[in-house]
Amino acid sequence: MPFDPSEYGRQVADVYDETYAHLDPAAAVRCLAALADGGPVCEFGIGTGRLALPLARRGLTVAGIDGSAEMAAGLRAKPDGDRIEVAVGDFTHTRVPGEYALVLLAFNTIFALPDQAAQVACFRNAAAHLRPGGRFVVEAWVPDPGAFRSGAALRPVRVAEDQVLLEAALLHPAEQRMTTTKIRLTDAGVRLLPANHRYAWPAELDLMAQLAGMTRESRWSDWAGSPFTDTSGEHVSVYRLAEAA
Ligand SMILES: C[S@@+](CC[C@H](N)C(=O)[O-])C[C@H]1O[C@@H](n2cnc3c(N)ncnc32)[C@H](O)[C@@H]1O
Repeated sequence: MPFDPSEYGRQVADVYDETYAHLDPAAAVRCLAALADGGPVCEFGIGTGRLALPLARRGLTVAGIDGSAEMAAGLRAKPDGDRIEVAVGDFTHTRVPGEYALVLLAFNTIFALPDQAAQVACFRNAAAHLRPGGRFVVEAWVPDPGAFRSGAALRPVRVAEDQVLLEAALLHPAEQRMTTTKIRLTDAGVRLLPANHRYAWPAELDLMAQLAGMTRESRWSDWAGSPFTDTSGEHVSVYRLAEAA
């Protein structure tokens, strides 16, 4: 079946904000505002504005691309949502007008793309939106095949009094793919939130950046800038487009 960039958002938009309400965007927003150097900022997979809205409220001009009209509508319905221009489309090739100081792809969304070719296209589209010397920031987990037993894993993502979030996953190492469904348990019942991933190690992402004319400036294990080490489970990677000659 061909890849449908609207599918994830269509399935989760009505519960996305509630499901991830516990995530505090403050450190990410501080870090991104510093990297944006006055902006403007374009977020690929902008969703309901978890990061984009606080960035806009800091005075930065923010635009974005999202595959899901439902997620974009969620953003627009929020206070200050009308300050952010959102194009509904696939961020491997959709263009929003302007030249940006920073392009952002947060929350593992690079892995939502179905294969390596689409991920390379995404890096190229990020570079096409950047002004010379501009930055592309990617936040993603580090693949951990060791967490799987016989190709399967079940892990608690969050256990709270009002919500238990589990993730059931199957690994397909030959294609670096993971089939996952998050299972959200609340007083209202059970919701299944499917999301498939084509995962990649940080070094492969560095190579994609090189193919798009960017080099890595920094890699941290979180938004606070903690060092990236042998045991880091996540990374924030900052790539820079070459300055004009
Ligand atoms: C995990 S959510 C992240 C939303 C937001 N960036 C955040 O941090 O909360 C991923 C978002 O990317 C969008 N998305 C996934 N694949 C896409 C694609 N190929 N093109 C455009 N948007 C895509 C989804 O619709 C969803 O809104």
